[in-house]
Amino acid sequence: MSKRPTRPAMQSEVDAVRRVTSVKPKVTFVDHTIPGTSVVMKRRVPAHPDAPENRPFIFPEDQVKDLDIGLKCGMNIMLTGPTGVGKTALPRAICAELGLPLVRFNLDGETRVSNLRGMNIPAAKDGVLTLQFSLGALAKCMKDGYAVLLDEIDAALPSVRFVLQPVLEEDNRSLTIPETGETITALDNGFAVFATGNTIGFRVTQRAAYAGTNMMNAAFLDRFGMVIGVDYPTKEQEYARVLINVPGCDTDIIDGICRVAEELRSDDKFKSDFSTRRCVQWARLCEHFGTEGVLRAAKASVLRKLEMSTDARVAREIICHIFGYDESAL
Ligand SMILES: Nc1ncnc2c1ncn2[C@@H]1O[C@H](COP(=O)(O)OP(=O)(O)OP(=O)(O)O)[C@@H](O)[C@H]1O
Ligand SMILES: [Mg+2]
Repeated sequence: MSKRPTRPAMQSEVDAVRRVTSVKPKVTFVDHTIPGTSVVMKRRVPAHPDAPENRPFIFPEDQVKDLDIGLKCGMNIMLTGPTGVGKTALPRAICAELGLPLVRFNLDGETRVSNLRGMNIPAAKDGVLTLQFSLGALAKCMKDGYAVLLDEIDAALPSVRFVLQPVLEEDNRSLTIPETGETITALDNGFAVFATGNTIGFRVTQRAAYAGTNMMNAAFLDRFGMVIGVDYPTKEQEYARVLINVPGCDTDIIDGICRVAEELRSDDKFKSDFSTRRCVQWARLCEHFGTEGVLRAAKASVLRKLEMSTDARVAREIICHIFGYDESAL
């Protein structure tokens, strides 16, 4: 049987199909309890395509409560504390859970104002090379109502922080683009600001450990209505965090790792930070080295990072004591 010839689609049909397929799904916001907490927040359904994907995370009740209140009040939220305790992971996990779009800015010494606000870039137009303004990522986030994470804000250059100041005005956010004269505002469109820093001004004694950070001025800090202190978790909390990240690791080993972390942090002779990140790294190596490889894993993920001889000695003692090894084994 001969096939019926297919009729070429008329332009009006093509347009109709395009219209149907480009219909945006209706967006609603529904009550959603953040797992493991009593906090109910609004979840976007469907999740925004630029929402971060879910990663293993244990939500700390107190921090989520503060974050929820801060967001409800339209405040900028600063997360501060030692390295590797979940400052960056928390806003990311919340946005993943709530289906909200988030863009992370790593504010190192190389970040320029033009990266945030935009810049003129060469473009060919009618065969002639001209300059065309390209909007920066922060300006786009303000326009489109994305949340932003200003990560390592204490490493940003002062010039960058001054540009951020009007953006951080909690009830009158604006960003003026000198090249175009445009002023972008962002109110009630979902734009929200999270920032993280190890030394937001008062961890001055830790400045050597966090070399490369800059002192923040009082006016900048004052623009954060909610400052959340993210500190080391309790041993039970840490156990749950390590286990969720490394579910294949022997649970007795995870317990031992968390005991080492707890003891080192409370030991006056031990001056370094000892992060949850380090516990996760150690457990991850143990998963590969096996039960016999706990010390080998400890050398790679813990001991070789401890330059101060006293810290290394204290850590060696506590690790051997908790895992029942003779110190000569290390
Ligand atoms: N609540 C948590 N649940 C599960 N894992 C966690 C949690 N908090 C921290 N972690 C683990 O610790 C790691 C480090 O967290 P994160 O990158 O957020 O640290 P940070 O505080 O931002 O550190 P830094 O100051 O060095 O940037 C995460 O990748 C994750 O493995
Ligand atoms: Mg971080």
